[in-house]
Amino acid sequence: MRKQIAAANWKMNLTYQQGEKLLNEILESGIELRPDQNVIFAVPFPYLIMAASAVAEEQGYEISAQNCNDKSSGAYTGEVSAEMIHTIGIKYCIVGHSERREYHLESNRILADKLNLCLQNFITPIFCCGEALVIREKNEQNQFVQQQMEESLFHLDKEQVKKIMIAYEPVWAIGTGKTASTAQAQEMHSHLRSLLAEKYGKDVAEEISILYGGSVKASNAAELFASPDVDGGLVGGASLSAQEFIQIIKALKQ
Ligand code: 13P
Repeated sequence: MRKQIAAANWKMNLTYQQGEKLLNEILESGIELRPDQNVIFAVPFPYLIMAASAVAEEQGYEISAQNCNDKSSGAYTGEVSAEMIHTIGIKYCIVGHSERREYHLESNRILADKLNLCLQNFITPIFCCGEALVIREKNEQNQFVQQQMEESLFHLDKEQVKKIMIAYEPVWAIGTGKTASTAQAQEMHSHLRSLLAEKYGKDVAEEISILYGGSVKASNAAELFASPDVDGGLVGGASLSAQEFIQIIKALKQ
C-alpha cells in the first residue's frame, strides 16, 4: 500500500536529552495515524534505541537511521552497517542524502550497494535523489534524476523496488528556505513515477511512496502534500520543532 509519510531528518542536531524531549512532545500531541500513514524519525545513530523505545507502542510511528555503510562488515573504523541497524530492530534507513553525496563523495554506484545491503537486512531504504541549482538552471533536472535512478536503483527487481521509498530533494531547496513550487514538485514526482512505471509497470509505480524534501514547513506542507504524486515529506530544519512538525504531520493527505 502506498503510504503518506511525514519523515523527520534530524541530521547532526540535538543532544540526546533534546531529542528525547522532542520525540515525547510530538508523541504526546496524540495524533492518531491511519493505516496508510507513517511518521518516521531519522535520528543520529546513538539515539536509535532510545527513539525506537519511545515509539514502540505508537501505531504508525517508526525510526530510521540516516545512513549505513556500503560494505557488509570489516575493518571500517567508525562506520555502521545495515546489519547492525537491523539487529537493533530499526526498519528504515536514509540512503543517498545529498549531504552524503556532497561531503562524503557517495556515488550512484556506492548507493546501489547500500540499497542492496538495506534490502538484504530487511530495512526499507529512503532513497534520496535531486539536482543542484546549476542543473535546474539548465533545465536538465529530469535527465539528472533519471541517471541517479538508473545507476542506483534500476538493478533491483520488482519485489525489491516495491520495498523502497524515494525522496525527491532538490539540493537548491535544502536548508535554504527556498521551496520547490507545488508545480515543480508535482512535475518531478510524476516524472519519477513514470520512470518507475516504464521500468517496473504502472502497478508497482503506484505503490511506491515519493516524498518531497527541501524547506518543508508547517506553512507550506499542506499545499505541497496535496499534489497527487507527493506522498508526504522528508523534513530537516522544521522537524526540530515539535510545533512545526506536528503541523506537518497534520498536513498529510487525508
Ligand atoms: P530542510 O527541510 O532543512 O530544507 O532539509 C531537507 C532535508 O535535507 C531533509 O532530508
